[in-house]
Amino acid sequence: MSPTESEFLAACRRRQTGVPVWFMRQAGRSLPEYHQVRAGIGMLESCARPDLVTEITLQPVRRYGVDAAIYYSDIMVPLKAIGIDLEIVSGTGPVIAEPIRSRADLDRLRPLEPADVSYVSEAVTQLVRELGRTPLIGFAGAPFTLASYLIEGGPSKDYAKTKALMVSEPALWDVLCTRLADLSAMFLRVQIEAGASAIQLFDSWAGSLSAADYERSVLPHSARVFTQLAEFDVPRIHFGVGTGELLRLFGEAGADVVGVDWRVPLAEASRRIGPDYAVQGNLDPALLSAPWPVLADRVRAVITSGAAAPGHIFNLGHGVPPTADPAVLGRIVDLVHAEGPALRAT
Ligand code: CP3
Repeated sequence: MSPTESEFLAACRRRQTGVPVWFMRQAGRSLPEYHQVRAGIGMLESCARPDLVTEITLQPVRRYGVDAAIYYSDIMVPLKAIGIDLEIVSGTGPVIAEPIRSRADLDRLRPLEPADVSYVSEAVTQLVRELGRTPLIGFAGAPFTLASYLIEGGPSKDYAKTKALMVSEPALWDVLCTRLADLSAMFLRVQIEAGASAIQLFDSWAGSLSAADYERSVLPHSARVFTQLAEFDVPRIHFGVGTGELLRLFGEAGADVVGVDWRVPLAEASRRIGPDYAVQGNLDPALLSAPWPVLADRVRAVITSGAAAPGHIFNLGHGVPPTADPAVLGRIVDLVHAEGPALRAT
């Protein structure tokens, strides 16, 4: 690690000394200061206001001293920006007015222009200035996860319509996912050009697929997102839930760091992914409500298992639940910082 490189970026590049920590969905719903500034303002409206985006992104950095900030936005923001009629319903998730199911529907998916999201460049520029040494992670949704919302019309348990379209109309599926890959790549490009120092591609729901279907119908599109960003020297994190059978493919798609949920221990995950990748994760978010001594031991176990990987960024296995006690997250950050270097070294 060079003296100017943050512990987070050093871990992404597999040359850390300590253990960096941040939390997926650290900004937002679990923080009282978030509810205060968001009062009376819609989710998507808040994403288009650089002053609010900056404040909300900084809140968990101030409160916890995490090693990275994640840009406050949503995977649906670029779709909204090209004119897709959608809402984010609190407690439910994204809801699409007219789902996309036919070739004619694809006409509504035009390319994203940087000017459509000028507020993103503005917010990222301001944030990077205020964050100082703390890196900012930019993010976007991967084609499969975005497609699942567009095709289902909202959240789904089984992704039945999405999978049916994927296997029965492969040509339509490929056009749809190519457009979504280009949309996400442009959204990430805007964030990187404004100063984001790492990116995370969220394919939250890809774990619902078999490895064969993932490799055939999804991986090429996620790889297209990363390929389009090849000119940038920023670490790429690739995350999904329930991806135990897909971990190697998640690395191969073009990531530097593979996000792992709580179902596979990090040492085993790293063995599946291979030695050229760092891992990120993977405390079970449900355990945040366990008594502190029990939870603390689970935090230590995650670090110890992660020490088998050539790089490890501590995180939860999925997002911070809305009911999480911020004080508990603060204690985890302190514990990872205090004990991480020694636990990783043993
Ligand atoms: O710190 C952060 O990570 C905040 C930035 C962030 C949000 N969404 C803000 C948000 C990030 C990284 C996301 C990503 C996102 N959005 C994903 C991938 C991550 C994951 O959890 O797997 C997905 C699948 C979405 C789509 C989405 N948006 C869902 C499923 C929800 C939850 C609905 C709910 O209320 O339970 C949202 C809404 C959302 N995105 C909120 C926030 C702060 C809450 C809505 C609100 O505050 O009104």
